[in-house]
Amino acid sequence: MFNVVFVLGPPGSGKGTICSKIQENLGYVHLSAGDLLRAERERAGSQFGALIESHIKNGSIVPVEITCSLLENAMNLHKTANGFLVDGFPRNADNLSGWSKQMSGKVHEQFVLFLSCPVDICINRCLNRGEGRTDDNVDSLKKRVETYNNQTFPIIEHFGKLNMVRKVDSERPVEEVYEDVVKVFEAANQM
Ligand code: ADP
Ligand code: C5P
Ligand code: MG
Repeated sequence: MFNVVFVLGPPGSGKGTICSKIQENLGYVHLSAGDLLRAERERAGSQFGALIESHIKNGSIVPVEITCSLLENAMNLHKTANGFLVDGFPRNADNLSGWSKQMSGKVHEQFVLFLSCPVDICINRCLNRGEGRTDDNVDSLKKRVETYNNQTFPIIEHFGKLNMVRKVDSERPVEEVYEDVVKVFEAANQM
């Protein structure tokens, strides 16, 4: 049974940044759904490249069958990991139901790390990210924020009702955010 921590928050809230640090120090393997989709988009012979790019540009969510299979395949490459940081997933109701269908009995969901940061700051971070992403522009960001508000935030609220959300204010400098994140992991792994 794989331990899984879902990492959610608006685009630019620092999910990737914080997950790299947890992976480095706590032995969890970082799996970014967005990174896996971008890699699949680039893979020669992929039948999903154009579909993925159209969702990424529009800030909409790729059908779960694609994303969940990429996540499961990646998990199976790291069978001895302490656990997995599933970053940027589940992003909507389709992601959540598809995950439950495909993964129940194979994973233990420990908690949801919610990185909370005001949207205007998140947008500025994305515009300055400098990774050449096709969706770090004002038009795509507007749609991504809409998707976050309308589809992803309700998923966080759903997990909140199950008492699974650990919220950390990620508006602060990375080191301060990370310090609080470590406390969340320590508390969870002592239980
Ligand atoms: P996400 O994965 O949530 O979209 P990233 O980790 O890629 O976010 O961060 C987006 C941008 O913001 C990156 O350029 C990153 O260096 C920067 N960043 C991340 N966390 C912070 C922070 N706490 N303070 C300032 N800048 C940050
Ligand atoms: O998390 P990240 O910002 O890298 O995601 C980029 C894009 O990848 C999203 O805006 C969305 O189009 C797509 N994505 C998705 N399903 C996910 C995660 C990301 O469709 N679970
Ligand atoms: Mg990211």
